[in-house]
This record gives sequence, structure tokens and C-alpha cells, in this order.
Amino acid sequence: MRVVLAYSGGLDTSVLLSLLKEAGSEVITVTVDVGQEDDFKEIADKAEKLGAAGHYYIDAKEEFAQDYVFPAIKANAMYQGKYPLSSAIARPLIASKLVKVAEKEDADAVVHGCSGKGNDQIRFDVTIKALNPSLKVFAPVRDWGLARDWEYEYAKSKGIPVKYKSYSVDENLWGRSIEGGVLEDPSREPPEDAFKWTVSPEKAPNEPEYLTIDFMKGVPFAVNGDALPPSRLIATLNIIAGRHGIGRIDHIEDRTVGLKSREVYECPAATVIIEAHKDLEKMVLTKRELSFKLLVDETWSDLVYTGLWVEPLKSSLDAFINNMEEKVSGSVTLKLYKGSARVVGRSSYNSLYEDKLVAYESHSTLSQEFSKGFVELWGLQSIIGFRTRRGIGVPLQESIAW
Ligand code: ARG
Repeated sequence: MRVVLAYSGGLDTSVLLSLLKEAGSEVITVTVDVGQEDDFKEIADKAEKLGAAGHYYIDAKEEFAQDYVFPAIKANAMYQGKYPLSSAIARPLIASKLVKVAEKEDADAVVHGCSGKGNDQIRFDVTIKALNPSLKVFAPVRDWGLARDWEYEYAKSKGIPVKYKSYSVDENLWGRSIEGGVLEDPSREPPEDAFKWTVSPEKAPNEPEYLTIDFMKGVPFAVNGDALPPSRLIATLNIIAGRHGIGRIDHIEDRTVGLKSREVYECPAATVIIEAHKDLEKMVLTKRELSFKLLVDETWSDLVYTGLWVEPLKSSLDAFINNMEEKVSGSVTLKLYKGSARVVGRSSYNSLYEDKLVAYESHSTLSQEFSKGFVELWGLQSIIGFRTRRGIGVPLQESIAW
């Protein structure tokens, strides 16, 4: 068998490489760079040492930012109101690269290191099957029931170098997911060593920092006035927001397979970008657009979280969102201070905000006299309903005259 293995260089995938070789397979390893801070040279060397028949390093950072992170920003993607889907959006991209390599290398199967307990298995399997149903998908950790402690022993016995890690971490431009170890006790505060991109808010600077993000058609293009390519822009915001302790997330998450899990993330850029983007939308979209978009956004996030990136409904939602986002251009200023990112200013040439109408001063142009009749009709049913329920009778026309 000729197989393509998604290879991170960590314990699971290194053990898989060795096991697959023992089972007589020819293994081609693939590492997709979505912005994780790894030594890709070291990973390639390790793959070669463990006997990979070939290794691919694929730099997909720009594609990830443009085609996966940007749609998530437009959809204000936040699973269960907390998780910006950082790991979730990277999986379909990685899966598509695995399929490409498998086709090029004429492989029979794609192998990944996901367990049978999480969401990632779904995201990989579903995307791979949609792109190429003739490829077999194999997840030995799940399908052979491999346990971590067994993997350690096996790695030791085979001389596979493994670094001991206190947590299971998945990292890309859009965020870091930190799981396992002491974090599995949801009553305990995550220790400081779980975090890498954010300082603790207590240790953040005592001075606030202002940050301006410019958006064009729903996506950010400049930071403090400097236009940046998508992946650089996100990386820059991870640094700026991270140094103020912004973007630490700790919540109980409902996995697709039914488990509840305690999840810890740090997503500094995602936190400030989505906060700013939501604020800008409120300035340029109507009340009706905003409330309908909330439903669309939630459905989008749910489809993506549950591994259905390829679902046709998602592409229809994307079309809807893109149409609405045409207007979402402008500039948002946030004040960053000790773990919080507060929007303190916004402006847009598509703004629906009219200071001439809303002002309390005498130059206001809204005729208040129209409001009297409006209020009368607006409250009519509610007033009648209230009085009927109290048994005070349906008021006659004159009794509700104002
Ligand atoms: N719970 C998150 C999700 O489902 C994070 C998954 C992280 N994956 C990992 N292999 N550590 O998207």
C-alpha cells in the first residue's frame, strides 16, 4: 500500500509513520504550514529518518488566511459564542492538500493522526471523501485504538525521539488550542505555562494601547494605517493583542461526537478582529440585516465546527454573507488594556449613522412630531393585550387616547 500521512513530527504521527512502515506500507509524509511555529526542517529530517518514502512541506499560510480565515471573519465565526474555530477551519485546507499529494503520488489512502474522540477526525474524513471518494481514509489512533502511554513505550522501544509535552497543542495563524494534562480538570485555572502567545493580563503593560484596524468588504487590510498581506496582518495582530493579554479563552465545549470538553485557547488576533468587525457591521448594516445575519453566522459556525466545510448549505451562506459584506468597509479603533479589547471609535463611508438625526442639539433635523403618532400605533396591541390579561377590559378608543 502507498499512503499519504499528515505529519506534524509529534508523537502520534511519528509512531504512525513507523507502524505503517512495519505493516509494509510505503509512506509519503505531508506537513502543511498554516502558521504554526514549528521547525519544518527538523520535521522533514525526522520523517526521512523514520523512513518516509517522500516528504512534502506545503506553505499554505496565505491560502489559509485568504480562503479560510477571511470567510470566518465575515461570518463572525465563534462556536458557542467563545471559540473562533481556529483548528476547525484549518482541517479542510490540510485535507485538501493531502488529497492533492495522494493524487499526484498515486496513493491508495490518506492517513491522519486524529483520535476517535474529537472533531478533527470528522473534518478530515468528510473533506477527503468529498474531494476524492476513491481514496481510503485511515485513522490508526482511532481505528487501531492506540493509547498515548502505549505510543510512548513504542516510541522508546523503536528509538523514535519524542519530547515530553504537558499539553496537546494545535496551532495556526488563527489561534492555539491547548488540551490535555491538568487542563482536563475543568475546575482548575489553566497554568501559565499553557500559554505562549499571550502574557497574563496582570503582567500586561500598565498603559493602554490604541489599535486601529481598517476593513474593506468585511475583511481587514491595514493595522494602524499600514496595509499588510492577510497572513502578516493576522500575525501582527497576534503580537499586538497578545502583549496585552487579550484572547485567552477557557470554556466547556460541546463536541460533535456528544462529549463535553474543557477547551483552552489563545486567539489574540481573532479576538480583536472579530470584535472590531462586529462593531463595524453595526454601523453599516440595518437592524434587520444584523438580526438575520446572526442566524446565518451561527449556522455557518456550526457547520464548520461539525466538520461540514463541504456542505452545500455553507456555500449558499457564504454567498449571502459576501453580498452583505460588500458594505462592511471602514475603520475601527480599539483600546487594549490588561486583557480587554474595547472598541472606542469607528467610522465608515457606508455608515447608516446620521449625527444630524440623532443629535440632542437644536441642529437636529428629525421632526419629533412624527414620533407621537408612531408611538401610539407601535404600542397599541401591547397596551390592549396588557389590559385584557389583567381583566381590566379592552380599552375604548378614547381611553387609550394620549
Ligand atoms: N476543540 C477544538 C476543535 O474541535 C480544538 C481541537 C484541537 N485539536 C487538537 N488536535 N488538539 O476545533
